[in-house]
Amino acid sequence: MQKKGKIYLDRQYEIGEVDKRIYSSMIEHMERVVYGGIYEPDHPLADEDGFRRDVIELVRELQIPMIRYPGGNFLSGYNWEDGVGPVDKRPVRLDLAWIAEEPNLVGTDEYMKWAAKTDTEVNMAVNLGTRGADAARNLVEYCNYEGGSYWSDLRKKNGAEKPYGIKTWCLGNEMDGPWQICHKTPEEYGRLALESGRLMKKVDKNIELVLCGSSNTSIATYPSWDAKVLEEAYDITDYISLHNYFSIVDSNMKDFLAGNIELERQIETIIATCDFVKSKVRGDKTVHLSFDEWGIWNREETANRAKWKFDWSDKNAISEGSYNFADALLTGAMLMSFINHSDRVKIACQAQLVNHLSLFNCIKGGKIWKQTIYYPFLYTSVYGRGTALKTIMDGPVYSCESYERVSVLESAAVINEEKRNLTIFVLNRDTEEDLETEFVFRGFEELREIEHIVYHDEDLEAVNTPENPDYVIPHKKAAGRIEKESYTTVLEKSSWHMIRFEY
Ligand code: AHR
Repeated sequence: MQKKGKIYLDRQYEIGEVDKRIYSSMIEHMERVVYGGIYEPDHPLADEDGFRRDVIELVRELQIPMIRYPGGNFLSGYNWEDGVGPVDKRPVRLDLAWIAEEPNLVGTDEYMKWAAKTDTEVNMAVNLGTRGADAARNLVEYCNYEGGSYWSDLRKKNGAEKPYGIKTWCLGNEMDGPWQICHKTPEEYGRLALESGRLMKKVDKNIELVLCGSSNTSIATYPSWDAKVLEEAYDITDYISLHNYFSIVDSNMKDFLAGNIELERQIETIIATCDFVKSKVRGDKTVHLSFDEWGIWNREETANRAKWKFDWSDKNAISEGSYNFADALLTGAMLMSFINHSDRVKIACQAQLVNHLSLFNCIKGGKIWKQTIYYPFLYTSVYGRGTALKTIMDGPVYSCESYERVSVLESAAVINEEKRNLTIFVLNRDTEEDLETEFVFRGFEELREIEHIVYHDEDLEAVNTPENPDYVIPHKKAAGRIEKESYTTVLEKSSWHMIRFEY
């Protein structure tokens, strides 16, 4: 007998407005993300500034609202001043984070141009590793001050008459990690972030600051790092960052596909930490969450990275690889988790956009191809905008090494009152059986199905490749059975779905 599941959804049970910035991404100066990714002046499709037009097109298709830049670990050794002014006078610097040579052909002004072309906001990060408050406040002045001061006039001289008005700024990157250039204790970092943030906000009071939280959940200082840095820097903090990458290496499929449970625990732990510190410091504002690095370390990139020597005999090493269908399923689930925490998660940056743990890859001088994870990201970004509604899942469960009673169903729902649309994202993480699923609605008089997109492959290891870029792609599915406030369809084993209704 076929297994059955139910998903309940009530129009009154709102979680919060989905902040479109949860569909953000990241670009770091590393591997071929910038050079050979967004920027390839010799490419036949390069525009007058050397940017690949096909990349710009995909960023627009994905409707990515914001991108974090320029790192990442790279950030903690970066002198932003090296990347402005005449390109032929810029120094080549050693990037000690990735053991690479940074040519500084793309810097702040070039990146801002690219951001305008792609219609993306910039989430700018300042170096609190080798640099500090002075370089940070100067960068805010360079980018956001109208004119008439040293740094703002330099920006004008470099060709940008109008200030960029960058709103979101990250105070460093993963400062808790021993791998980070000039890594710090929470007390050291908290004080530095506070003092830097104060100066940055004095230059421009409209900016919002993201404090560095823990860089993963397995690091020994998690989550006390977050509590300590918040205590130090609560005054200037608008968001705290979270990072997490999932991997099937050393794991198994059942655990891997349930990875967003760990992500949700992390989100809930950090919400509790923020609120604990809010009470402790008698704060009157609420700190929100910026999950500004999330993604999957796929098998190939993990294996390639493991071969790196991390010395100058192996400089500019590349780890590029491909995502399989299982990775796409978890990507879809993680996006659902962000929607389901819309009240507190305001920013999330999939890491990274192109050529490294990426949504799509570029062949040097050649074409672009979309990874499997591209599709759940695309549909969720385009249609997952509005107000998040709570969904209750009732169906089969399984237990695995890391989790007990994992629901095979995962879901998220977004209502868009303006368009009178309801969009439901659903995952059947059962790898063995299809699941007939009934959606039970309350508060919707009449729902009409607009479309049902299914992403399914029998082979969880299936990948897209440059030779066969459309090997695993989503399809339209036949309409389900709709009766008043109930809709029934079959969710194939190991499948992701987007079902859209109008009302
Ligand atoms: O591979 C990307 C790196 O992962 C980022 O530079 C860093 O922030 C994270 O550890």
